[in-house]
Amino acid sequence: MNDSIRGFKRGCYCGQVTVGDVGKELWLTGWTHRRRDHGGVIFVDLRDREGLVQVVFDPTAIGPEFFALAETIRNEYVLAVRGKARPRPEGAANPNLRTGAVEVLASELRILSAAHTPPFYIEDQINVDESVRLRHRYLDLRRPEMYRGLELRSRLNKSVRDYFTERGFLEIETPILMNSSPEGARDFLVPSRLRPGEFYALPQSPQVYKQILMVAGVDRYFQIARCFRDEDLRADRQPEFTQLDLEMSFVEQDDVITVTEGMIARVFQDTLGVTLPLPFPRLTWLEAMERYGSDKPDTRFDLEIADVADIIRGSDFKAFTMALERGGRVKGINAKGCAGFSRREIDELTKLAAVYGAKGLAYITILEDGGYKSPIGKFLTPERMEALVERLAGRPGDILFFVADSFAVVAAALGHLRLRLAEMLGLIDPARLDFLWVEEFPQFEYSAEEKRYMAAHHPFTMPKEEDLPLLLTEPAKVRAQAYDVVLNGVELGGGSIRIHQRQIQEQMFQALGLPSEEVRGKFGFLLDAFEYGVPPHGGLAIGLDRMLMLMLGRDNIRDVIAFPKTQSAMDLMSQAPSAVSPRQLADLRIRIEPPAKEKGL
Ligand code: AMO
Ligand code: AMP
Repeated sequence: MNDSIRGFKRGCYCGQVTVGDVGKELWLTGWTHRRRDHGGVIFVDLRDREGLVQVVFDPTAIGPEFFALAETIRNEYVLAVRGKARPRPEGAANPNLRTGAVEVLASELRILSAAHTPPFYIEDQINVDESVRLRHRYLDLRRPEMYRGLELRSRLNKSVRDYFTERGFLEIETPILMNSSPEGARDFLVPSRLRPGEFYALPQSPQVYKQILMVAGVDRYFQIARCFRDEDLRADRQPEFTQLDLEMSFVEQDDVITVTEGMIARVFQDTLGVTLPLPFPRLTWLEAMERYGSDKPDTRFDLEIADVADIIRGSDFKAFTMALERGGRVKGINAKGCAGFSRREIDELTKLAAVYGAKGLAYITILEDGGYKSPIGKFLTPERMEALVERLAGRPGDILFFVADSFAVVAAALGHLRLRLAEMLGLIDPARLDFLWVEEFPQFEYSAEEKRYMAAHHPFTMPKEEDLPLLLTEPAKVRAQAYDVVLNGVELGGGSIRIHQRQIQEQMFQALGLPSEEVRGKFGFLLDAFEYGVPPHGGLAIGLDRMLMLMLGRDNIRDVIAFPKTQSAMDLMSQAPSAVSPRQLADLRIRIEPPAKEKGL
């Protein structure tokens, strides 16, 4: 048996055989997708990354020796087949297959590799536990939908590189081993052997380096950059992920936004043939929070949130008026046509609102006869009820939901309620691509845990110039020159204009309550660089995995990463992370403490 490829020059891919090849001798290689015995004739669907083609082993054409060999073929065996393409017989064509009008009559067969029976079918839409797919990722990636993801990603990278290089951007690699800077998520650490007791950190993003590159005069930088964050994982987060990272000198916010949306439009055009209308709409952060209860609003459907504080003020419903007195808000949303919600459905929505801190979920059901049913009806005059219904454009058959609490809780609770209602009501058109920019983010977020203001983006983000006087007096009011690009309710990317003036930077650290020694320790080299002539600069980073996930209509980013990690940050195929030898630890002068429970604590 010849199991070598020597002298066998593969001609075309299996999936690319067409009627135009009829009569030609073809040299094909691939995996056995399916094997059928049909009364002395064997049919093999031979598959490669481009698709599959039917190969016929007919003893009268191939001879008894090769035919005997063909009888040993099993699923996923790797074959090399030489044969002549011919039209399929009348009635045997398969219109669902690209190669469905032809078949290849084999004249030579080599079995290059045998295979175990795979733990799942190599086809799309399989119903298999994801852990099995991840453990056998090499089989999972053979499935057409997974291959399409890899292929799209590769074309996307090329399109990004074309776009940026055409515009004078330099692609520059920044270090993977760098210093830990404990702002943002938790760092992954790498122990140094040459300097025991010291550690490198893996970059959470190339942020500091790309700013240094601007100081270095590079002017326009981009990178398809790997980033590492040791944070709790969700469907759209991975511990290692990829950013399309860019930075530009002598620019304002609009320049960065224009370049970025141009890049996104180019990528969608090049890879999917989709033309995106430019420019993308813009919302201020405040508007997004007010209308959609989210800083990454999904605008594929309306269901806008309305403020009803003016109607509630002075009423007898203490839960609501107290919230207003405490400086909070009362807002509502109209679940159109949902007056029929059962007690259980309302309870579920109330629980959902509670997850985001709401102390209750008040509602008004508008009955078909125009009357109202509401647990808060007894506290409100008919005029107030009427006004609430009018504010939310309520019609018979609708149910209106209300939350009273702080600005943040009201937004989060109603924002998530809005998303859930859209799902329940089937309001989301999956074919739509709603891009938008959210701008004027707050500069600071107050951390109750740390009892100080934290940078909402990062401490090098430039405030809006008109808000600079408020930096030390009213930090909560300072808006940043920071912007996010959002697609269908997912934060695709974000960036900012950076501070390039020493004095503003110092005020910023002061506003953040960071003592100057700490600042030195964390950001020393950047501050040093800033002593030597800094161009005004700004940039942004797009989460490439998230963008691909949305382009492919997937709901988790593991599907667009060749070798992703699980929710518990494991690679099930390689079993990383894993223990290392005592010798390796000794080299690093590291001793492992047993977990608390093993020590009997
Ligand atoms: P930021 O932290 O907002 O900004 O990250 C930019 C984008 O990266 C993606 N992203 C992730 N994707 C997958 N898994 C993760 N764990 C993960 N974390 C972030 C998101 C996000 O919008 N240096 C700044 C950018 C700048 O200011 O230029 C930065 O990293 O899509
Ligand atoms: P109560 O008088 O506390 O029974 O509340 C009457 C209704 O108002 C119930 O449906 C509660 O869920 C709702 N409710 C109470 N507090 C709030 C709040 N802060 N925001 C929204 N709804 C509330």
